[in-house]
Amino acid sequence: MNTIATTPIDGQKPGTSGLRKKTPVFMGPHYLENFVQATFDAIGGVAGKTLVLGGDGRYFGAEAAQVILKMAAANGAARVIVGQGAWLSTPAASNLIRQREADGGLILSASHNPGGPNEDFGVKYNMANGGPAPEAVTAAIHARTLEITEYAKLQAPDVNLTAIGESHLGPMVVEVVDPVMAYADLMETLFDFKALRGLFHEGFTMRMDSMCAITGPYAVEILENRLGAPEGTVTHEQPLPDFGGMHPDPNPTWAHELMSEMMAEDGPDFGAASDGDGDRNMILGRQVYVSPSDSLAVLAANAHLVPGYKDGLKGVARSMPTSAAVDRVAAAMGLDCYETPTGWKFFGNLMDAGRVSLCGEESFGTGSDHVREKDGLWAVLMWLNIIAARGQGVAEIMADHFARFGRNYYSRHDYEALPVAMADAMLGDLRDRLADLPGQAVEGLRIETADEFSYTDPVDGSVSAQQGFRILFEGGSRVVLRLSGTGTEGATLRVYLERFAPGPDGLDLDPQQALAPIIAATEALVGIRARSGRKGPDVIT
Ligand code: G6P
Ligand code: ZN
Repeated sequence: MNTIATTPIDGQKPGTSGLRKKTPVFMGPHYLENFVQATFDAIGGVAGKTLVLGGDGRYFGAEAAQVILKMAAANGAARVIVGQGAWLSTPAASNLIRQREADGGLILSASHNPGGPNEDFGVKYNMANGGPAPEAVTAAIHARTLEITEYAKLQAPDVNLTAIGESHLGPMVVEVVDPVMAYADLMETLFDFKALRGLFHEGFTMRMDSMCAITGPYAVEILENRLGAPEGTVTHEQPLPDFGGMHPDPNPTWAHELMSEMMAEDGPDFGAASDGDGDRNMILGRQVYVSPSDSLAVLAANAHLVPGYKDGLKGVARSMPTSAAVDRVAAAMGLDCYETPTGWKFFGNLMDAGRVSLCGEESFGTGSDHVREKDGLWAVLMWLNIIAARGQGVAEIMADHFARFGRNYYSRHDYEALPVAMADAMLGDLRDRLADLPGQAVEGLRIETADEFSYTDPVDGSVSAQQGFRILFEGGSRVVLRLSGTGTEGATLRVYLERFAPGPDGLDLDPQQALAPIIAATEALVGIRARSGRKGPDVIT
């Protein structure tokens, strides 16, 4: 019997990036099956369709892939293209969906959250354009989880996913592909691999920390095998089910091993890290940390030096809390610049409509219209190509950039696991006072405008309201406050601080010092420390 009776399970509402839960929850009876069947139903069934399937190698990924294959077969899918070993980075999955003209794909990952028997697991559905399902689709999936009564799953032995090639599961074709090659080939079409080989040949040194997650095999193939970087350039290169106990989130806090190596006087020329599923990136030079907002601005200003973007960019986009550094580049270069809510999915419409080719977020995400996900290794290769083309290191590139465009000092302060009621009350109070703030002076800073960000998608007209509070001070400084949509415990308050320095003086301060007046004004306005009793933020980026 292929049809199995089930009952709805609470809490299967996909978040910003699919359904993420603790692994034991996903391993519970019918849990994965209910969600997958609801997904299939919500997209109009998968009969005759081609899907892409793979994930970041975390615990339960291979087992989940077997379940999904058997369900796809029982639901009449024609073909599923699976990464060998059930591995695919998120950008590689996006690429395969597009390149193979698949109808969609399932990505098994909880991104930068730790993996393992007691950590996190996730399933995300991507559309035929290679991008995450939009809200209308995730809402339909959720609605379906609430009324599901049965699912279809073929009773069959597991498929061999270790060998490349085709086999059958009932009438469905299972095509196991090398997870790396198509993606690496795509990168060769965008970047000047000859120049990059020259860079490493001349002794340029790099450290890529793959954090025991999925980018390891991709980075080894591209950097070491194809570009000739010395063996060992990529560290923590073996994907492990529990990421070797690492928290695979590329930021100064979690990538501390890489940070300490890069901050040494004799550290490598260039450093980078990526997250669990390979879509995030952190960029470092020797003793230089490049904030994600600045990285986006540098890529926008220099993209024309990279073969894949030599004709210039169509436009750029950033999420609202991301600094306005890229806006200054766009203004100088005559590019359209869009400001979207937090979440990569908002960029998809702009890319599909041909309005932008480069996007980025302060949350360590950067990407272009080569796929419909953010792409960690792509960002690393952009930087390498720009370094090679300019013949300058990271520190020089940053100094030149700030001298030309001015500097948007930027930092994010996170207060994690706050009681939800307290966080809601704090922001509720702010909402009530918002209209009175313009014109007031706080800690010597005059407030120009204060509002709550609402976004109307210029392509489909959909409206996303209450996307974060923006308080602008005179002189181009601002603070943005919003609650995280991805936190798993209590409420995480994110405070995004920004101050513009036009130069030529004052361009090389410590960001925390440069932002001290904004930090003080924020505390006076919102009283985060006073109300939470916390001494300071838990994470600073
Ligand atoms: C995920 C999304 C990003 C988003 C980030 C931060 O990584 O893919 O697009 O910027 O979450 O979300 P949060 O709501 O926690 O600030
Ligand atoms: Zn990720």
